[in-house]
Amino acid sequence: MARPRFSMALLRLKWISTDLLASVCLMKRAVCPGSFDPVTFGHLDIIERASAQFDDVVVAVLVNRTKSSMFTVAERMEMILKTTAHLSNVRVDSWSGLLVDYCKSNEIQSIVKGLRAVTDFDYELQMAQVNLQGSGVETMFMATAPTHSFLSSSLVKELAHYGGDVSSMVPELINTALKSRVQEGGK
Ligand code: PNS
Repeated sequence: MARPRFSMALLRLKWISTDLLASVCLMKRAVCPGSFDPVTFGHLDIIERASAQFDDVVVAVLVNRTKSSMFTVAERMEMILKTTAHLSNVRVDSWSGLLVDYCKSNEIQSIVKGLRAVTDFDYELQMAQVNLQGSGVETMFMATAPTHSFLSSSLVKELAHYGGDVSSMVPELINTALKSRVQEGGK
């Protein structure tokens, strides 16, 4: 009599562990990479929509060798942390190096990028193809919401530099940070 009960328990344990294993293995993880100098409503829209499609989303602040930055990596990470606090499956990290190496070491299968207009396409396609060829990491493009199609961090910084109103382009805390950085003489 004790034998069947024991095998039932074993079977149940096997089910649970198989289930657990499956959910861990099937976990869909994505990275939203960028300079985020600073994060804008355009970025936040993509991050929010990615969080609805993936189980785990890492927003990675990457060092772009071709750009100089107004905010430090730590400052940019803190801004993203604060503005994505309502998204429970979104984390923030930083990386200096190839994006595919970050993906490999963090078991990330997909890169999510926003496409604003055709002007983004050539460069983004090239990067997606290089990343796919080198490592098999897929890039998923999301169409930017039309309200954000003109928005970029560079534009926001330029406007803020000359005292323009960027309150419709970035969250209030970023607007405040921009103003004080401009006052300090930051570019
Ligand atoms: O917000 P940005 O500056 O347009 O983001 C570009 C970024 C940082 C995501 C991109 O330059 C990048 O992935 N840099 C990491 C180095 C890398 O992997 N380069 C692509 C090889 S072709």
